[in-house]
Amino acid sequence: MSLKNISRRQLLATAGSFGLISIAGCATQQEAAAPAPAAPAPAAPAVPAGVSMDALPPLEGSLTMYSGRKESLVGELFVMIQDKYPKFDLDIRYDKSTALANQIRVEGKNTPADVFYTVSTGALGLLKNEGMTVPVNADVISAGREGYLDPEGHWIGTSGRLRCIAYNTNEVDASIIPKSIFDLPKVEALKDKMGWAPTYGSHADFITCMRYLHGKEKTLQWLKDMKAAGVKTYAKESNVTEAILAGEIHAGPVNHYYPMRVKNDPTGHSYGSGSHIELAFTENDAGAFMNVAGATIIKNPRQNYALASNFIRHLLSTEAQNFFIGNMKFEYPMIPGLEADPRLPKLSEQKTPEVDLVKFASQDINETVALQEEAGVL
Ligand SMILES: [Fe+2]
Repeated sequence: MSLKNISRRQLLATAGSFGLISIAGCATQQEAAAPAPAAPAPAAPAVPAGVSMDALPPLEGSLTMYSGRKESLVGELFVMIQDKYPKFDLDIRYDKSTALANQIRVEGKNTPADVFYTVSTGALGLLKNEGMTVPVNADVISAGREGYLDPEGHWIGTSGRLRCIAYNTNEVDASIIPKSIFDLPKVEALKDKMGWAPTYGSHADFITCMRYLHGKEKTLQWLKDMKAAGVKTYAKESNVTEAILAGEIHAGPVNHYYPMRVKNDPTGHSYGSGSHIELAFTENDAGAFMNVAGATIIKNPRQNYALASNFIRHLLSTEAQNFFIGNMKFEYPMIPGLEADPRLPKLSEQKTPEVDLVKFASQDINETVALQEEAGVL
């Protein structure tokens, strides 16, 4: 943790304590002397949410980022940031989230990674648990969405994604998609007609969520049941979506934005287009988990933590958040006051399970890998 970081966080904590003391003091005075003075308005956060990059300190210096999000999806945003800041040099290495998290663990303090950007809260939590992350500054925490970040600042959710079951509407009637994820392998009409991508970071998080919410035994049984139901394995959830569109399979658990992109893009998409794909949601179980893509600062002796923190702050800027929710990206924003694409299911209407993302992120994702291996699905 940097000294700057400690002092800013402590300042914030101290300000909070003063607030409590003064309110308590008021209450005592109120008992003695009426009328009560109006309570002071709560202080605005140091940096309000929805701030443009223009209002943030400029980025200057060099950062290496390991990105578990694909260049074809997010590369444009980083090109935009590079173009905006000529004195900022961003070196990005793209790979799968799980591979990059393991690479950082193996590299230890010699890792060139300054920032890790990933689709997997589980991977972020893993690195925090192993003491390999450094908290962001308080301004980043106050800019993000409560409940979708580590309150200690070791990881920050930058955009939201829902788990869903995508299905081909030419092949499947909506009524056969169950409301419980545990009933999915029991649907006779979907036998040998489902697909998934078990090595994808978001899928791994979905299985971790199932362990966390429903226990190891039930999760293991579900994995075995899906295997017995003939689920086909794909490398990526975009491939699962493509196979659903092609009719090769009829349904599969994926992140919501894959079917949303093909369903809503009349000009086509790199992996197909068509209106014959729909999204169904299970209720109050891991099948409807709301997860985040997020970022963390990696502890290494060479890096400039203030720059890394300001870079992550830029991911919560108005421009970056609009990038994630717009242009057919369809993610959920992580700053207050910005609405998701109106074609998306409203979060308030979804029966997402209650998941404490901080506790969730502290789950050991290696146990998820072990469980998938035990079930024979990896
Ligand atoms: Fe994805």
